[in-house]
Amino acid sequence: MSVATNRPAPARAAGFDLDAYLARTTTAVNRALDRLLPKATARPATIHKAMRYSLFAGGKRMRPALCLAAAEACDGSWGAAMPLACAVECIHTYSLIHDDLPAMDNDDFRRGKPTNHKVFGEGIAVLAGDALLTQAFEIAAQCRAAVRYPHGTIVLEIARASGSLQLVGGQVADLEAEGQTVSAAQLRYIHERKTSALLGCATRLGGMSANCTAAQLRALTDFGYHVGLAFQVIDDILDVTQTSAQLGKTAGKDVAVQKATYPAIVGLERSRKIAAQLTDKAFAALKPFRGRAVALEALATFLLQRDR
Ligand code: IPE
Ligand code: IPE
Ligand code: MG
Ligand code: MG
Ligand code: MG
Repeated sequence: MSVATNRPAPARAAGFDLDAYLARTTTAVNRALDRLLPKATARPATIHKAMRYSLFAGGKRMRPALCLAAAEACDGSWGAAMPLACAVECIHTYSLIHDDLPAMDNDDFRRGKPTNHKVFGEGIAVLAGDALLTQAFEIAAQCRAAVRYPHGTIVLEIARASGSLQLVGGQVADLEAEGQTVSAAQLRYIHERKTSALLGCATRLGGMSANCTAAQLRALTDFGYHVGLAFQVIDDILDVTQTSAQLGKTAGKDVAVQKATYPAIVGLERSRKIAAQLTDKAFAALKPFRGRAVALEALATFLLQRDR
């Protein structure tokens, strides 16, 4: 297995302007989310203000971008993929609001701002998370479903990725691992669930919105799984190497509360190699697209090299 830490992006992705691409996806996603969510003034206004506060606080919008790029790789449209991209971002944002609660990671900053519970109180923050999770299903149930992937399939996809066997299960294992000695296999189990499941869901939903073939769906599953694992390894690394100002969330927390992370278990250097190897596997998964997955390639490279 080659180690790709300083490797340039693949040739096809080299001429791809990812900054411009992300500017376009972020603008389009923000506009769609604004349209899909209840107005901030809708009664009871507190909950809608709280939902919008975290949703529009300045997240990187990586899951929606992956969803839209996956649709493109399967010759689909942003229009068809957009509701699903937004649904995933709602679930992601809910998971962050709850992740930050005093009962979980107890964090005061998120996306460069005070956390939801710091502004609205714990009760409303719990409910804002609940409402965003529910909102995701409302949005997904109303999407324009493709022939191969009816609404039941789409909703099942989101429910499975978010539920107690995946995202929630990963968060449970993450909490239970605090202060414990954790093996590499246990850490992989946590990362697969708390992070990789939803990134894989994003890429799979993009493909589904484009009525992708079974082979394309397999490729997107493989890609999303590996990019998702790399994503959490990098998140763990950045917690050690970056400042709170750079991250928009409190750095150094993982060591302080003895979280199970890659840097804690295998050290920074080895963690970087693992992230690069996982990204190599993500690239390899895109082979069946024969160069049509340029945006996904560029995103995988960016996610490996990101500094926040
Ligand atoms: C943070 O996700 C939580 C993890 C799964 C590591 P992001 O780094 O995508 O957070 P935002 O959306 O940009 O705030
Ligand atoms: C969070 O992992 C994963 C989810 C929110 C599901 P972390 O707890 O490491 O995320 P950050 O570092 O707070 O963003
Ligand atoms: Mg956490
Ligand atoms: Mg956290
Ligand atoms: Mg983290």
